[in-house]
Amino acid sequence: MQRIGILTAGGDCPGLNAVIRGVVAGATQRHGAEVVGILDGWDGLMVGRVRRLDRNAVRGILQRGGTILGTSRRDPYVHGDGAASLRGTLAREWIDSLVVVGGDGTLRTALRLSGEGIPIIGVPKTIDNDIAGTDVTFGFDTAVQIATEAIDRITTTAESHDRVMVVEVMGRTRGWIATYAGIAAGADAILVPEEPYDLDAVAELLAARAAHGRHYSVVVVAEGIAPPPGTHVKPSVDVFGFERLGGVSAVVAAELEKRTGFEARVTVLGHIQRGGTPSAADRVLGSRLGVAAADLAAAGGSGRMVALRGTQIVDVSLEEACAELRGVPPAILDVARTLSAP
Ligand code: F6P
Repeated sequence: MQRIGILTAGGDCPGLNAVIRGVVAGATQRHGAEVVGILDGWDGLMVGRVRRLDRNAVRGILQRGGTILGTSRRDPYVHGDGAASLRGTLAREWIDSLVVVGGDGTLRTALRLSGEGIPIIGVPKTIDNDIAGTDVTFGFDTAVQIATEAIDRITTTAESHDRVMVVEVMGRTRGWIATYAGIAAGADAILVPEEPYDLDAVAELLAARAAHGRHYSVVVVAEGIAPPPGTHVKPSVDVFGFERLGGVSAVVAAELEKRTGFEARVTVLGHIQRGGTPSAADRVLGSRLGVAAADLAAAGGSGRMVALRGTQIVDVSLEEACAELRGVPPAILDVARTLSAP
């Protein structure tokens, strides 16, 4: 009987459990295959931590946040001997094919491993929505919803106190969450890594709002923007050497206060954007991707990633998915600018 292994790696993301359930349902119902869950990302594969996943094991997980398999940022090429560090577990567990659910770093590792002869199918995952080859990643919809609700709440207190509120959302290299949540919540300025920003221009905009009687403003900042010129944010890395972001909003707020004289406050939304129950859209997308990944794995595919194009689930090469990070198109950034005129 064919055996498919599945692991979730990198930062967690709402909808991961829908993918796991989709893979198990697809593998067992459509292909009579067995599924082995690998615990804690690549780590579990390196040290042989696994658990059998049958239909009962994935009941009731669809609406749960996080991942029942656990995850980590350990990488076999950085923290082990690459493919060699995984082959023992693959052989011992009779795993014929791997489904790997992850973001850009995980998918690059998957591409390398498939080049070394390990059959791998990728599933794109990140709240950052920055994976190429797919129109959207699951988790993004939930994160935007959470960020929008938060900005809505922040807006009412901003208005009561005549304050400038700077809200920092996730987005390491791309500003999808900032742009979408900013548009959805009617933010007055949105700063993203995709394009340079001018704090003098933002300050002028806030002053123009005040001149029109709107003495409060909300500025949404993606965590990955460069600090304003002449300032810096203390760098830090996690135990895996992964750069920790967060904190640029404090510098932006201080600079805006300096330029406008308006009182500014900061909210960093952080991991609240990644936790908790996935939206219906993310549950559906994760489920569809999971079933499609099981189909590809059962058919003996490798080096491919399941993806959403329009309304269809397709598969693309891992090369295409890893070639670049997908940014917010200029036309959408332009709409955001148009909407935030004072
Ligand atoms: O890649 C997804 C993401 O949520 C980024 O937006 C964020 O910078 C990063 O993960 C945070 O990672 P960690 O949970 O390791 O702090």
